[in-house]
Amino acid sequence: MIRRDFIKKSGLAAAGIGLSRLAMPAVFTNGMPSNKIVVAVAGVNSRGASLAGHFARQSNCEVAYICDVDERAMAKSVERVGQIQSKKPRAEKDFRKALQDKGVDALVIAMPDHWHAPATIIACAMGKHVYVEKPLSHNPNEGELAIAAARKYNRIVQMGSQRRSGTGLIEMVSDIRAGIIGNVYMAKTWYVNDRKASYYKDAAVPSWLDYELWQGPAPRRPYKDGLVHYDWHWLWHWGTGEALNNGTHEVDVARWGLGVEFPTRVSSLGGRYAFKDDWETPDTQTISIEFPENKMIVWEGRSCNKFKINDASRGVVFYGDKGTIFNPGGNSYTVYDMAGKVIKDSKDASDSEDTTNIVNAGDNLAVLHVANFLDSIRNNKKPNADCEIGHRSTLLVQLGNISWRTGQTLDIDPKNGHILNNKEAQKLWGREYAKGWEPKV
Ligand SMILES: NC(=O)c1ccc[n+]([C@@H]2O[C@H](COP(=O)([O-])OP(=O)(O)OC[C@H]3O[C@@H](n4cnc5c(N)ncnc54)[C@H](O)[C@@H]3O)[C@@H](O)[C@H]2O)c1
Repeated sequence: MIRRDFIKKSGLAAAGIGLSRLAMPAVFTNGMPSNKIVVAVAGVNSRGASLAGHFARQSNCEVAYICDVDERAMAKSVERVGQIQSKKPRAEKDFRKALQDKGVDALVIAMPDHWHAPATIIACAMGKHVYVEKPLSHNPNEGELAIAAARKYNRIVQMGSQRRSGTGLIEMVSDIRAGIIGNVYMAKTWYVNDRKASYYKDAAVPSWLDYELWQGPAPRRPYKDGLVHYDWHWLWHWGTGEALNNGTHEVDVARWGLGVEFPTRVSSLGGRYAFKDDWETPDTQTISIEFPENKMIVWEGRSCNKFKINDASRGVVFYGDKGTIFNPGGNSYTVYDMAGKVIKDSKDASDSEDTTNIVNAGDNLAVLHVANFLDSIRNNKKPNADCEIGHRSTLLVQLGNISWRTGQTLDIDPKNGHILNNKEAQKLWGREYAKGWEPKV
């Protein structure tokens, strides 16, 4: 929703709370940063529940609100967080109401993808910092708007690509920069799983769900059984497919390691090969992304056959002219010379055995990432996965999906990541919104 409209509708204007006051960072009241950071967590069925726990466990951080349009998930999370921290958080269905509380410093967003950028923009406009789950946005236009909002309101916006805070991965990238495998020109990335078929059936909206608010910025569609929770991922109206659901993580590590920004060409092949069901997004997909520096990233996604690559269900391999680096999805990595001999083995014991589990994958990394977010607020500095970094990585995979949906290789402007000379593909740069919900900065 447009901020002005919300402020009007929510009665903020009537309450005499001016915009400049809203834009004041709460943690810098009295000119001195106070240490305690108060957050509201929105979307707690699964990922948000685990993030709420991470925030509640941080020192000098309080989860003051749990927000969800599923009253069952909200109640469960309130109880759980109440057991972790001394104070039980309040339940508030509409996160915008929680943000009216001047004591709240930040919003944590783990709602479905169609909500990520619109909620980020609303929160920034209401003077809050944001931890927003990946992908930063549902489409590239929203990603650019989210950055604009973060800059306009001078807010810290961290995307939940927790690998950016992994100590092992930070060391790996520093090894790459120091030339451990020479000139690195290619990164191969992958994710595999064994998901089943999904069918969405007409049904009445369950009594525990506010479907209107679940849809939020997305144009209205009838409720379907099977959509809520999680399986919205496989319909373009709300989701972004496996490519953004999981590919965003490793493509981000690949872009970071290669030291590249915007590409010149992107192409993608694949389809819904494993099942004939209601999925719109592919279950089998490759995305190839080429950069001006003569470097490339390849992503392979297999949603319905979890045969591992290099014994890992997700990962990144960097190829250089003096050697190779393998990162099996977590915080560990191994460096090989050109003869295939191990020259460095950096193991993180806390890496879980099976990184396919999307809720807990890299959770040790998420703890570090949450800590980095709070530290960035306290010290007013850019976080490890600032929204600009998050956007550039999210964009690569979004362009992959646009290539797949149009069946065309895309030429990209390496100055800003925009699609060149292709009206059909350019139509997928943004989306339509439910009336009154168009995000504006
Ligand atoms: N960083 C990671 O490793 C990681 C892992 C898992 C999921 N995620 C991301 O987290 C997000 C959530 O994933 P999930 O698996 O928990 O999805 P989910 O569908 O299980 O949960 C989403 C929750 O958001 C709630 N919700 C929807 N609209 C809302 C609104 N307006 N206000 C408050 N709550 C609302 C839903 O009711 C639900 O409880 C996704 O975008 C996903 O990509 C990231």
